[in-house]
Amino acid sequence: MPSLQDYQGLEDYLEGRSYPKIRGPIIRGAPGPLDCCHNDGDGMGGRTVGALDGRTILITGAASGIGRATAIAAAAAGASVLTTDIDEDGGHEIAAQVGGRFLHQDVTDEARWQEVAAAAGPLQGLVNNAGIAIVRPLLETSLEDWRKQQAVNVEGVFLGVKHILPVIRDAGGGAIVNLSSVAGLRGNSVGLSCYSATKGAVRLFTKSAALESARRGWNVRVNSVHPGIIDTPIWDRMAESGPSLFNDSNASTDPVQRASSRVPGGRPGGPENIADAIIFLLSDASSYMTGSELVIDHGMTAGT
Ligand SMILES: NC(=O)c1ccc[n+]([C@@H]2O[C@H](COP(=O)([O-])OP(=O)(O)OC[C@H]3O[C@@H](n4cnc5c(N)ncnc54)[C@H](O)[C@@H]3O)[C@@H](O)[C@H]2O)c1
Repeated sequence: MPSLQDYQGLEDYLEGRSYPKIRGPIIRGAPGPLDCCHNDGDGMGGRTVGALDGRTILITGAASGIGRATAIAAAAAGASVLTTDIDEDGGHEIAAQVGGRFLHQDVTDEARWQEVAAAAGPLQGLVNNAGIAIVRPLLETSLEDWRKQQAVNVEGVFLGVKHILPVIRDAGGGAIVNLSSVAGLRGNSVGLSCYSATKGAVRLFTKSAALESARRGWNVRVNSVHPGIIDTPIWDRMAESGPSLFNDSNASTDPVQRASSRVPGGRPGGPENIADAIIFLLSDASSYMTGSELVIDHGMTAGT
């Protein structure tokens, strides 16, 4: 197990003074006043180092954005990390950075889930993070677009729970965190209707899985997280899917511009803000939480 100092960018991360080096060359958001809440005077930026000691956590979509930040935060909290992604280069890079393992995995492929489950060894946590967003006006959305988002965002989460929950149960218990969104809590008028449908499905599937697990005494908690506007490469990928179809400033795929009108405080969050919440849900600090939805949106959905 490498020491904390071995992780590139980790000292900055733990200090809460800057974003970890997780976005590659595309960094729009600068750290701002929100980050001050991490400074609790212990030099660790308020993060619970050791909260995941001795545990192994599987994180899908870990090559980028929130998944990548979660891998760094989980390692900092003491976990061994198993990262998976369709992005081979990014996956190997983050695994090397956190001293973990990487497996190539398309989350829509059930046979691959079975192989990952067999290769993983004992697990205490799963983060179903891999996701895509296709931005498209409703009437211009093809059935293919719909099915593609359903396959990654919903079927990928279902397959993860189906094949990894038993691994966690048989290793003595643990926690699963599914990535939903504020788009899974309310509708969206600017081209994300199909994405919203996937995230709403993740929200209720999470609750049902949590109930079944609790009723059967499997000792596996299942919760969802609901990020607001978080500055990650998903926005660039979204732009590639076709923003030119809109003539609507609310449909911006620039998270800084979008957050300026939608988020109280006016700026997007960083992926480490979501990673912190995920670590909490993986850890014993949330041991009485299951079937819950944790919203991290700086008040975006709190009211008008
Ligand atoms: N960034 C936001 O504003 C935001 C807000 C709410 C929810 N989310 C959710 O958070 C999760 C992570 O998003 P992000 O912003 O970090 O995005 P991202 O694009 O930076 O990272 C997503 C990762 O998933 C991987 N991926 C895509 N399809 C895959 C597949 N079929 N199998 C395996 N891996 C695959 C990508 O290669 C990438 O590494 C997603 O589920 C997203 O819907 C993001």
